[in-house]
Amino acid sequence: MSSARIVLSPDAVIGAVNPRIFGSFIEHLGRAVYGGIYEPGHPLADDRGFRRDVVALVKELGVSAIRYPGGNFVSGFRWEDSVGPREHRPRRLDLAWHSVETNEIGLHEFQDWLDLVGSELMLAVNLGTRGTAEALDLLEYANLDRGSTRSDQRAANGRPDPFDVRIWCLGNEMDGPWQLGHRSAEDYGKLAAQTARAMKAFDPDLELVACGSSSSAMPTFLEWERTVLRESYDAVDYISCHAYYENDGDLGSFLASGVDMDGFIRNVAAVADAVQAERGSDKRIDISFDEWNIWYNTRFENVDKIAGVDNWPVAPRLLEDVYSVADAVVFGSLLITLLSHADRVTSASLAQLVNVIAPIMTEPGGPAWRQTTFFPFAETSRHAGPVALDVSLTSDTYETERFGTVDVVTAVATYDQTSGSTAVFAVNRRIDGPTTLEIDVSALPGPVRADAVSLFDDDLDAANTAEDPERVRLRPTVPVSRTDDLIRIDLPAVSWTRVLLLPAGRG
Ligand code: AHR
Repeated sequence: MSSARIVLSPDAVIGAVNPRIFGSFIEHLGRAVYGGIYEPGHPLADDRGFRRDVVALVKELGVSAIRYPGGNFVSGFRWEDSVGPREHRPRRLDLAWHSVETNEIGLHEFQDWLDLVGSELMLAVNLGTRGTAEALDLLEYANLDRGSTRSDQRAANGRPDPFDVRIWCLGNEMDGPWQLGHRSAEDYGKLAAQTARAMKAFDPDLELVACGSSSSAMPTFLEWERTVLRESYDAVDYISCHAYYENDGDLGSFLASGVDMDGFIRNVAAVADAVQAERGSDKRIDISFDEWNIWYNTRFENVDKIAGVDNWPVAPRLLEDVYSVADAVVFGSLLITLLSHADRVTSASLAQLVNVIAPIMTEPGGPAWRQTTFFPFAETSRHAGPVALDVSLTSDTYETERFGTVDVVTAVATYDQTSGSTAVFAVNRRIDGPTTLEIDVSALPGPVRADAVSLFDDDLDAANTAEDPERVRLRPTVPVSRTDDLIRIDLPAVSWTRVLLLPAGRG
């Protein structure tokens, strides 16, 4: 049996947890929108065609801001196509995903849906095939109260009040050769700076995200960030990070994916700080980790990718990964890593939300269900307090092919001063057995009672499907021993656990 120990103290503050860290992402891709959030004719659809079962699951998941409408899609998107009377909206080719976009759902309809789920809109502008002028048009359309052609057009299209979008992405993955309008770091940096300055001339309080690298494996990683920030430092507020992980058969390394994400964040922050120092600036650039997840991208590249000049389907099944227990455990560890950097990562988007590499799946005319990854996200977003705590972890280790020696346990905690509750999120990466986690609670105020749930299974490949939607679910975990100062929990092999420590006597 291996062991790990954490010490909880409300004084060991990492930083405030920005609720935007529990954001997500909906792209016009595959069946995310059409056949996902929107399916007129479905028995559970409302009068606007939004599936009520999906709305309920998105609310249960607890997502804050939702990035929209892409992704790679945004780099070919003309936002004007997606507003105004539906019967006049054009059908366009989406070159990113080799599909047809009908524009049945656009900015107004998506905001209507966001109002139902209670999430904030994070909007991306197209800096691939378009530029500053079109971004400004969209900003004026979305955010100006009244008095200009664009704002009057929005009112005539049914929204007298502005959308008032606060956070904007300046393009998407512009470092990637696959991106429509892909540019060099210098060219993109200049375009991002020019667009950001113009957008801030309209509203200096907008929060603007410059594209960082689309993965830490890109040959331009870090040099890209340095160049883009040198060009745009004063005008932008965030640099983005994107990271996807998949199990290539080396489970030990896959379980340690959080180590890679941790290094990614540290390196990008170091470059941002170096540019800050060069410029002698008081301003700090935060990280928007606006795409993160498990993604079996090799499956997409080798099997699902659509091709052919006469083959442009509407809402095809794309990127519909089915997530296993092992995937969900790694997924939970990525959330732990994000929270461990709460002082720097103040915005993040789980990519994506419905049907496309998603925690929520649907069948046309059929059910909607929770994938395994749903559970760590819903539990973390529901129970994370406003402040992230360092847990002074000491842990047994194991050897990995990719990352060398790695702790068997990774953990973070959050604290809520108002309720006095502390939440611990922990992952046991050990494959061949449980790990005992000792939680030192002596520095927490008053006696506490513990409520714990875990995600694990004897079958690491177990998954939820349309046929068996509740095969995998959370299970209660009972501490093996406890005193006023120490709680001991056995974390099952390859498991994710949430422990809530509440002042004794509170509900
Ligand atoms: O989330 C799927 C795709 O991954 C996005 O469109 C793109 O930004 C990234 O490469």
